[in-house]
Amino acid sequence: MTNKTILRTEKLLRILADGKFHSGESIAQQLAVSRTAVWKLIQKISDWQLEVYSVRGKGYRIPGGLDLLDKSALMAQLQLAGASFEQVHVLTSLDSTADFVANQWKQSPGVATVCIAEHQSAGRGRKGRRWVSPFAANLYFSIGVALPLGLSALGGVSLAVGMSLAQTLNRFADDQIKIKWPNDLLVAHKKLAGILVEASGDSTDSSFLNIGVGINWQMQDKQAETIEQPWTNLKTLVGKDVSRGDILAQLLINIDQTLSQYQQGGFKHFSQDWAQLSALYQQPVTIYRTHDKVDGIEIGIEDNGALKLQTANGVEVFHSGEVSLRKRAL
Ligand code: BTN
Repeated sequence: MTNKTILRTEKLLRILADGKFHSGESIAQQLAVSRTAVWKLIQKISDWQLEVYSVRGKGYRIPGGLDLLDKSALMAQLQLAGASFEQVHVLTSLDSTADFVANQWKQSPGVATVCIAEHQSAGRGRKGRRWVSPFAANLYFSIGVALPLGLSALGGVSLAVGMSLAQTLNRFADDQIKIKWPNDLLVAHKKLAGILVEASGDSTDSSFLNIGVGINWQMQDKQAETIEQPWTNLKTLVGKDVSRGDILAQLLINIDQTLSQYQQGGFKHFSQDWAQLSALYQQPVTIYRTHDKVDGIEIGIEDNGALKLQTANGVEVFHSGEVSLRKRAL
């Protein structure tokens, strides 16, 4: 999209955000374009899994309206908390916030960057899966930071970020959120959020982390038809006065703090909270590896983020990567 089209689309979304009918003519006037151009913009936003009603004689309407993210409110909250991000991008639609941050880093290496999007056309999940990203329904963001730690010291960083997310969300959601090692946030065994951490750098001194987070907020069943596992939304768990924007700000502030704590003390600092946060602590589980599987009871976490299982052969330790964990029926 050209810059002009992006600006017009954003203006259109702000007009329709109130959930009321707006005639094609009045929208055309406000955007200073033809009614055909309005119709084309409506087609564009409908491609973002956004439902737009179009009724002859009445115009266009988004049922339920939109609660759009507000960049200036977010910046004020980040500034007040002294968060250390140098660049914050709040975008309407892009392919993937993870790709945006990676590209940004090619242009300005080392700049602590946050990218938040209302819609992703090619959101990426773990193991090559797609991350379904309907417009303004959920939260999608990526954080790019440089750490003065080599890749070998990053074993627990994505777990530390996951724990920080769960603890932050639990303040709004009455401690209902748990983690399934290594990176899924669950409520009653249904997926609420996922984390995708991509790291690059050398093995001893410095690394770049691209931390991507997707959190379901008010996704509708019809938007999630391609999701193959049970999932749930955050909005139903939090108080009516809590907005998506407030939660986003708190998450960013706490991840920023988590990363500086991790820099100072590694994962050790976080491992004590595992028992309380883990969805499968002290429960029978199976670890699936490429060619085999191991049954055991989850008994905790190592200081490098590896998972500890009591198995028939004693205590065994598993590193994330190509393994996956599942609850086992006894
Ligand atoms: C998972 O599979 O559980 C991880 C999902 C991570 C999704 C987020 S949404 C924001 C960021 N951009 C992406 O393309 N992916 C991550």
